[in-house]
Amino acid sequence: MCGIVAYSGSRPALPVLLSGLKRLEYRGYDSAGVAVATPTDITIRKAKGKVSELVNLLSEESSLESSTTGIAHTRWATHGPPTQENAHPHAGGKNGIALVHNGIIENHRALRDKLKADGYTFLSETDTEVLAHLVDSLYQGNLTEAVIAALKEVEGTFGIAAMAHAEPGTLVVARRGSPIVLGLGEKETIVASDASAIIKHTRQAIYLDDNDIATINGSDLDIRTLDSGTVTREASEIDWSSDAAEKGGYEHYMLKEIFEQPEAISNSIRGRLDHERGSALLSGLNLTPRELAELHRVLIVGCGTSMNAGLVGEYAVEDFAGVLAEVEQAAEFRYRNPIVNPSDLVVAISQSGETADTLAAVREAIDKGALVSGLVNTVGSTIARETGRGVYLHAGPEISVASTKAFTSQVSVLLMMALKFARSRRMSREAGLQMVREIEAIPALVQQVLDQNDAIAKVAERYLDQTSAFFIGRGYMYPVALEGALKLKEISYIHAEGYHAAELKHGPIALLEASVPVIALCNDGPGKDKTLGNVAECQARDSRVLGIVTKGDREAIATVDDFIEVPACPLHTAVVPSTVALQLLSYHIARLKGCPIDQPRNLAKSVTVE
Ligand code: AGP
Repeated sequence: MCGIVAYSGSRPALPVLLSGLKRLEYRGYDSAGVAVATPTDITIRKAKGKVSELVNLLSEESSLESSTTGIAHTRWATHGPPTQENAHPHAGGKNGIALVHNGIIENHRALRDKLKADGYTFLSETDTEVLAHLVDSLYQGNLTEAVIAALKEVEGTFGIAAMAHAEPGTLVVARRGSPIVLGLGEKETIVASDASAIIKHTRQAIYLDDNDIATINGSDLDIRTLDSGTVTREASEIDWSSDAAEKGGYEHYMLKEIFEQPEAISNSIRGRLDHERGSALLSGLNLTPRELAELHRVLIVGCGTSMNAGLVGEYAVEDFAGVLAEVEQAAEFRYRNPIVNPSDLVVAISQSGETADTLAAVREAIDKGALVSGLVNTVGSTIARETGRGVYLHAGPEISVASTKAFTSQVSVLLMMALKFARSRRMSREAGLQMVREIEAIPALVQQVLDQNDAIAKVAERYLDQTSAFFIGRGYMYPVALEGALKLKEISYIHAEGYHAAELKHGPIALLEASVPVIALCNDGPGKDKTLGNVAECQARDSRVLGIVTKGDREAIATVDDFIEVPACPLHTAVVPSTVALQLLSYHIARLKGCPIDQPRNLAKSVTVE
């Protein structure tokens, strides 16, 4: 949720740290700080607010410019409000220790009491300061040993980077449940909680495993586990381009990512469609033909947008493969003690691969003996690694908090999954080939919606002043309604709810009036007539209705008050262009309202707490 950057090498550390923090700002942005080694001590500087506040603060400190070792952090508050005191790095009492931390130390209260009794004074409300003092209390001249001893006492999750004044040039980093990646440069190592902060400097990276601890000095590395000696971790090549991680001329990352969707979806499906057999390859699933044939049920878990994509997967798997499928909110899955069989496939969907609730559901499913697969965008992320049967999205880095291209890539991969399961069962080769063609057409369908960007911006002007909105849809368009409402509320702060079109009259219709618009998914296909009937019910309560309609559908166009056209295609693929239309609608409403689109209030890109 927060972001870590650390540097040890021969260059000035500050520019590397600050540019890395900027790249990670989407992970947390309520305060930021750095600690750099100076000849006499470790200097810590912190600022409330965005990284630019910290940059301003440091612009007057020329004495720090020559330092070649440092750690830095951008925070999304968990323990204590976003203040300068609570910002990281935190100093450990007596021995000149500085530490940054992502995650949560669950036994921080007990440790705090013990450290207070030992004479430590606390300046912040954070669990991280507890860890800094704990390391300090165990320090006897070797930072690695002190960190190992401290981490053995803590319960919870962490990704940390620490430095000690007495060991110039040395960084100690560790992880458990919160990612740490080491970027390997010439005579230098750049550490980060996310590879996007290091690609400017190097593409060679080592992803630490849980309970790994690394001691770094320039390019010298020693990686061990908390319980044993030195271990070998192979470096891998990061295949994102730097350009992919920049805004590329768009006003916001969200808009850039919306426009990247034809390419992102193409990357997700590339090489995965089998034109010979009319099937999908998805070798990462690692299921034998027998396991496929014996598949009893597909359980899909995820949160937020990923869960909405999962619902499309549920419909498609049942629709095409005739395999039982259910989607469930990941946190609920973990705590309600679900029934899971060895012949069930649990599919965990996550853009970041780090969402705590989804990760917990994965572990629950593994413990219950299910086949567990991850549908993940971020390579090397925890969920991707723990599931073992990963299917990467290959959608490229998604920076904006509002998920866009991850959703459409998730849906595309889920459709391929449904196709694969269907072909291992009742679907004919001809029907399979037809579905292959339909999936291949998705990027072009999306492009047709993107080409209407200006027209959609004009429609958005009519929906700016409302404080509440409903999104309705049926069948495959029901998840689209949920996703459309989620997008609008998170970036424009307009209260929005998605409902099955039939459900509106079981309660929510009481809220309809002239000031409450309804966005109705009226795509041509089964259920359209009934949805148009629901549209009339809304209009009878004075609501203005914006319809997402199939291009040229005169009946639908004549029924609604405003419309956005999406290309004609089967409903299971119409999910994607229809969602893109709603992404653009939300984007333009939020832009016209002047909202901070890429970093909406109260949200973080990766939710690594329960
Ligand atoms: C989407 O716009 C949200 N910001 C959020 O719902 C997100 O999809 C959710 O937190 C799950 O994240 P994940 O896909 O990284 O697991």
